[in-house]
Amino acid sequence: MDKIEIIGRQTLKGDVRISGAKNAALPLMCASLLTDKEIILKNIPRLGDIATMISVLEHLGAAIHWKSHDIISLNVAHIETSEAPYDLVRKMRASILALGPLLGRYGQAIVSLPGGCAIGVRPIDIHLKGFEKMGAHITIDGGNIHAKAPQNGLQGCDFHFPVVTVTGTENMIMAAVLANGVTTLTNAAQEPEINDLCDLLVKIGADIHNDLKGTITITGVSSLNGAIHSVIPDRIETGTYCVAPLMYGGDVTLHNTDPSYLNSFLDVLKSIGAIIKTTDDSIYVSHPGHSLKSFDISTSPYPGIATDLQAQLMALMCVCKGTSTVLENIWENRFMHVPELRRFGANITVEGHKAIVEGQYPLKAAPVMATDLRASVSLVLAALAAEGKTVLNRVYHLDRGYENFEHKLRSCGVHIERKPNHTPSVNLVQTIAS
Ligand code: EPU
Repeated sequence: MDKIEIIGRQTLKGDVRISGAKNAALPLMCASLLTDKEIILKNIPRLGDIATMISVLEHLGAAIHWKSHDIISLNVAHIETSEAPYDLVRKMRASILALGPLLGRYGQAIVSLPGGCAIGVRPIDIHLKGFEKMGAHITIDGGNIHAKAPQNGLQGCDFHFPVVTVTGTENMIMAAVLANGVTTLTNAAQEPEINDLCDLLVKIGADIHNDLKGTITITGVSSLNGAIHSVIPDRIETGTYCVAPLMYGGDVTLHNTDPSYLNSFLDVLKSIGAIIKTTDDSIYVSHPGHSLKSFDISTSPYPGIATDLQAQLMALMCVCKGTSTVLENIWENRFMHVPELRRFGANITVEGHKAIVEGQYPLKAAPVMATDLRASVSLVLAALAAEGKTVLNRVYHLDRGYENFEHKLRSCGVHIERKPNHTPSVNLVQTIAS
């Protein structure tokens, strides 16, 4: 497995172009299952998770090709099979997003039940309850979800989400666009990625009204067309690069982004002393040159502080003056980065879903291990402030969600290098030994 080496105590200076949002691109790609016409998506990031989604969709019958570096064409003239097997689903939980559109267009689906992962149990019970409310018959057999729509198709319904769920909302929207009648979703997720999905679906002929306050009304139509659509900028990647120059100093301008997706996050950065200037599509972040103040965050669904930025903000707390706290309210196990941050010398205590960070304990480089996507990037951020050379193992987590990661940091002056692993595979070693 590749490693990344980062030389610490570095100030950043430069410009970063933000990529398209991974968590918007994945449902948009699944929406191609709803129509036999071509969908062209622009601003698609080249990431591990996108490659996995391509494999899932190709398995189901999609013809997919890259038209340029960041433009992809998807065409599902026929659905070849309605079964997404474990081997693909286990690589990425977002594969569950195939379930809603398959049920809507094909009337049935078999999707492997995703397991838990490093950040929590990650149930999908609410997705399944929603499909049942639309008349689907759901059984779990052999680790697979078997879902079947009634003979006359899914039926519109009123469904209240007991917990705000992002992919649950996306799955229900995609199931409802071809259903009979009206579906009204309440307590629906309001993340910008949901609105991006609704925008594409409306372009291809769906009838959707999203009040952007948690109620989404979908009136089923009989068929959908094709469209060209550009994926929104990645707000989590944006937030991550906002934190980078605050770790040890410098200033960075982020381009091709949308600051309005990050209002509560940027308010936090301003409140601790960071200098932030925004335009419609850029953010300038500068360290004030003196200690940043400690701060408290509590993660919540959009428009609150995103759980996907919690680990990065915790790394920032390690260099702020005083005591900071984190309340993680979305994922029950999203403190896997804490033991790794402690390896740098950080003083962090965990009490249930609360973490207390005593700032400005001197950080020293250490070999550390990535446990999930956002945890791994928080370790790189800590490494920027640590004295010495940090070695980050299990880099594949980063590759799932951060496009051109080392290149983007290097263009801001960071000494960061990937060390490919040239160790022969086990089979090769056995062959040589035998
Ligand atoms: N939940 C249930 N039952 C369900 C679904 C969710 O109890 O059927 C609970 C979860 O246990 C959790 C909460 O609801 O406590 C929110 O989970 P949600 O369903 O919103 O998460 P998700 O849709 O699986 C997406 C992102 C995650 C991000 C969360 C929260 C994608 C592909 N993934 O996951 O992104 O953390 O929303 O914002 O959109 C990441 O990019 O690193 C990442 C993990």
